[in-house]
Amino acid sequence: MSAGGLVVFPTETVYGLGADALSEGAVSRIFQAKGRPTDHPLIVHLADGAAAEGLADHWPRAADCLARAFWPGPLTLIVRKSSRVPLAVTGGQDSVGLRVPAHPVAQSLLKAFAAQGSGAVAAPSANRFGQVSATRAEDVVAQLSPFMAETDLILDGGPCTEGLESTVVDCTAQTPRILRPGVLGREAIATALAACGLGLAAPLPKTPDTAVPRVSGSLDSHYAPRTPLWVLPATALRDRVCGYVAQHPQARVAAWLFFGWPDAPSGVHVAVAPADPTGYGRLLYAQLNDWDRAGFDLLCLEAPPPLAAWEAVHDRLRRAAF
Ligand code: TXA
Ligand code: MG
Repeated sequence: MSAGGLVVFPTETVYGLGADALSEGAVSRIFQAKGRPTDHPLIVHLADGAAAEGLADHWPRAADCLARAFWPGPLTLIVRKSSRVPLAVTGGQDSVGLRVPAHPVAQSLLKAFAAQGSGAVAAPSANRFGQVSATRAEDVVAQLSPFMAETDLILDGGPCTEGLESTVVDCTAQTPRILRPGVLGREAIATALAACGLGLAAPLPKTPDTAVPRVSGSLDSHYAPRTPLWVLPATALRDRVCGYVAQHPQARVAAWLFFGWPDAPSGVHVAVAPADPTGYGRLLYAQLNDWDRAGFDLLCLEAPPPLAAWEAVHDRLRRAAF
């Protein structure tokens, strides 16, 4: 990494496609390999909170409060950047996303890189731009290996335990706000802030042009498999799939339902989805990546219940099925 190469590494959320955050040349290789527009900001990963503070222009109380409560862990804090952070990392913005991941392999990498280099690793999720995030090394290989050099590394840490990306909290305004829901829920964030005497702002309305600062994960085409995807309540899903297979008898359809589908038409491959948001979030991307590679003509997921505990899952499904 000190030589400007790419290192794919596991975090507890998803795999990251890392490079030295303080080297513009190394960072430009991330954008090339991912196929991502250069104005989309990257998260900078660090070994601990003190290192993260060192990349901020100043450290807001909200950031301090949330970092103490949840780092290392699945939380990204947006703060004003110090002049050490290149604009290439932040998509030209004066704020930067900082994260201290808990995964032991990520921690070892970050500590080793702090001893030998800048210690700051810029990393988006290790998938091609707009496609499904990777929670296993094999998914990274399938999507990114054509775009990586032989000297780049992929560290295989097995499947990610959380499976959905970190919660992104903007701490640049007076009142912090969640920009991207994640495995760390709204309730937990609000409770931690309240314990510090701070509030949490309501989410921004979901219209395309309100995303300031920009959140590339909030573009509606994100997290999408290449295969067409439907997300529907169970009854509507079964009806529509039956209609589809009647019209396309040769089609291969995969369906993920909470209680299975014992009398599914032939040609429909059915799997049972975990009924709890944690288990579901852990498996979602692996399931989509597997099915996307398996050559199905259509993927169908039963919509999870409209409950707060499913907020991050709903957010990803809404974008994947767009
Ligand atoms: O769990 C995760 O967050 C994973 C692992 C690898 O850490 N990373 C990840 O990175 O999901 P990426 O690039 O796929 O998504 C980063 C999100 C995007 O929504 C991006 O717009 C937002 O963080 N972000 C980063 N820097 C930002 C900034 N300065 N202002 C606003 N949003 C920012
Ligand atoms: Mg991503």
